[in-house]
Amino acid sequence: MAFKRSNVPGEDIRLAMEMTAKRRQLIDEAPAAPLVYEYGVNRLAKALHPGFVKAVIADKAPCSADCWRICLEPAGGGEFPFFRAGQFITLSCKAGDSFLSRPYSIISSPKEALEGKLEIMVQRKGIFSTFIIDEAAAGTELWMGEPSGDFHHDDIRDRGHIVAIAGGSGVTPFLSMMKAIREGSEDFRLTLVYGARTRAHIPFDPEEFKCEGVDVAVVLSEEEADGYRHGFITGDLLKEFIDDDTSVFMCGPDAMYRFVHKELESLGFDETKIRQERNSVGDREVSEIKAFRLTVHIRDTVYELEAANNETLITALERAGIPAVVRCRNGACGFCHSRVLNGEYFIAKENDFRRSADKKFNYIHPCSTYPESDMEIDIPIMNP
Ligand code: FES
Repeated sequence: MAFKRSNVPGEDIRLAMEMTAKRRQLIDEAPAAPLVYEYGVNRLAKALHPGFVKAVIADKAPCSADCWRICLEPAGGGEFPFFRAGQFITLSCKAGDSFLSRPYSIISSPKEALEGKLEIMVQRKGIFSTFIIDEAAAGTELWMGEPSGDFHHDDIRDRGHIVAIAGGSGVTPFLSMMKAIREGSEDFRLTLVYGARTRAHIPFDPEEFKCEGVDVAVVLSEEEADGYRHGFITGDLLKEFIDDDTSVFMCGPDAMYRFVHKELESLGFDETKIRQERNSVGDREVSEIKAFRLTVHIRDTVYELEAANNETLITALERAGIPAVVRCRNGACGFCHSRVLNGEYFIAKENDFRRSADKKFNYIHPCSTYPESDMEIDIPIMNP
């Protein structure tokens, strides 16, 4: 209802007094149909960003000497949200008195997820992965965070040919990308260069993924076999695959990143065309392990617990069974963004992705922060 300011003295007051009657008239004339509270765009946003959903383990099977494939289905049927090939999900569950969680890249293609099937690869490493392999069974329910991350091909940012370098379960995002290329939902060329100790350590069938636009080379370091390269992923080897239209994507252990970075540097490869998936922040080495008091506020609830200086705050929270919000576990996504009310802490430079305003006003990402004294923090509420 428009209200025009008048130049006539007293006129504004008269018009304002008429507003209530006018408003009543408009209400009386309005149709009786209920208001629309959800538009198509809201439904689309919810489908793309459902937050946390429940998933159930449908099947699990070993796929190499140290990796397992875990197949998930939406609890109660339906489909998984759409994602970009290369993204990850975060799984979490309660185990005893503690919470466990960890991000996993997706093996399935976006099309498969829309058909209700989502597969991940789990390597026997760390508490949660060991729990999934040894204790979780078909039917185990897990919380699943919506697909996240920017480790996917982007036409504006990346070149048309990706040389994908992987080791261990780091091949997972590339399996999804190769499927998506084959199905036609991604349009770039990909050459996978995968490093493994022996054929028993390869968690996928290289022949299954080769197709137009996709090539696979496997490099074995401790075995010589027909059809496989032998040695390490050196600059000499990479020269064969890299052309003028190449970006390099890497996913694997930190030692592989360090080695391949040096090899690419020796080739004079442009650093800005290299992208790597970040690994979760783990425990840090300290000269003496010290335990501190951690006071945690989640809205009106206050928790008191112990946190050691060699573990991240998120690890301490989960061990104490506190449902902390977490997604990437490497400090990058900002999902666990929390405020420090008191105390000293340490964040490694390579995992400090906070904005300068966050630093100024003492905000942290607990997944990449270690306590250096007693601390008091305010963390977001888990809202599945
Ligand atoms: S979970 Fe991503 S920054 Fe902490």
